[in-house]
Amino acid sequence: MIRKPTELSKIVKDKIREEGPITIRDFMSLALFHKTHGFYTRGPAIGSSVGPFDTSAKFSAFAFGVTQAITQASNVIGTPIRVLELGGGTGQLGAGIVSFLSVPHDYIVLETSHGLGILQAKRGLNVLTTLKGLEPSPTVVFANEVLDALPVHRVMGLANGEVCELFVDLDEDGELCEQSGPLSTTKLHQRLQQGNIQLGRGHIAELCLEIPSFLEELERVVKPGYIIFVDYGDKASKVYSYRHRNGTLRSYYQQQQVHDMFYAVGQQDMTADVDFTAVISEAQALGLELAGWTSQGTWLTNLGIQKYVGTGKDSVVRQKEVDQLTGQASLGSAFDVLMFKTKGLPDGPGLQATSH
Ligand SMILES: C[S@@+](CC[C@H](N)C(=O)[O-])C[C@H]1O[C@@H](n2cnc3c(N)ncnc32)[C@H](O)[C@@H]1O
Repeated sequence: MIRKPTELSKIVKDKIREEGPITIRDFMSLALFHKTHGFYTRGPAIGSSVGPFDTSAKFSAFAFGVTQAITQASNVIGTPIRVLELGGGTGQLGAGIVSFLSVPHDYIVLETSHGLGILQAKRGLNVLTTLKGLEPSPTVVFANEVLDALPVHRVMGLANGEVCELFVDLDEDGELCEQSGPLSTTKLHQRLQQGNIQLGRGHIAELCLEIPSFLEELERVVKPGYIIFVDYGDKASKVYSYRHRNGTLRSYYQQQQVHDMFYAVGQQDMTADVDFTAVISEAQALGLELAGWTSQGTWLTNLGIQKYVGTGKDSVVRQKEVDQLTGQASLGSAFDVLMFKTKGLPDGPGLQATSH
């Protein structure tokens, strides 16, 4: 596929010409969050029928299921609570949850994208760009497909047992290409050691160093409460297994996977599988407890998503939504639910006897 020249690809090339190669982490950060041309900063093209990303959030049944979790959690914590949605996308999920809630909990979205924040506010949601001013209080945090959007470094095993990092550089034609070099930070070495991640020659792995600070901010404001992540990922031994020897970083252009991460810089989504083992150990290091880990399908079923279907004239359509979200051949097994709780709370809603 011939690459699409974009404003952002030009900016990235100019940057590399001036400053030298950049890490994949910095490239991904620019591609998704550049202040003007980042994929998420821009938000979806207005009037476009093809949204930027297709997630469970587009189903009203998903909002219904998440609302059951929030309600059950608030019954434990004591009502009313604060609900903090991370990375609200188009705002469809948040608006859906607010409409299903029978108690008027304080609903806040933390959104780093300006364009998406505008869409969320248009749906009546209260949007914050940072948690800095937020006081600790009883809270349920919910994040659908946010961890997978955090920028990752890309490293590769070498023949001598060492590990190098992959950078974005320019080839002899001045086009963007991947180039290996020494690790940009010793934190990558530490992460590999802590996670006991062994990479054979040519084996590529993505490492996310943002997770500790991301969780730290949440832990500060959730007093007490639950933090619920829905995402694709697995335990470290699976994410970094030989099956994924080329890594898990992938790009989507208009919801189609493209094999070239430089195909349409700033117009394509980039994402990598989440290393749940790392998320769990970082959360536990902050004093959070693992409340449970199960598949999205099992979680939503346990929460009683079937009640969404009802017996009305649209029950057939509603059943299809539920099947898509819970089916083992569809989103039900593609996504997992990883839940944390502050000390002293019982295990999380929808997780009874379902630990991974
Ligand atoms: C793949 S989209 C998912 C959107 C929505 N949750 C859904 O399921 O449709 C990722 C979202 O996370 C937001 N995001 C990325 N990094 C973030 C961060 N550090 N804090 C808050 N939001 C973030 C993006 O702007 C975007 O809204």
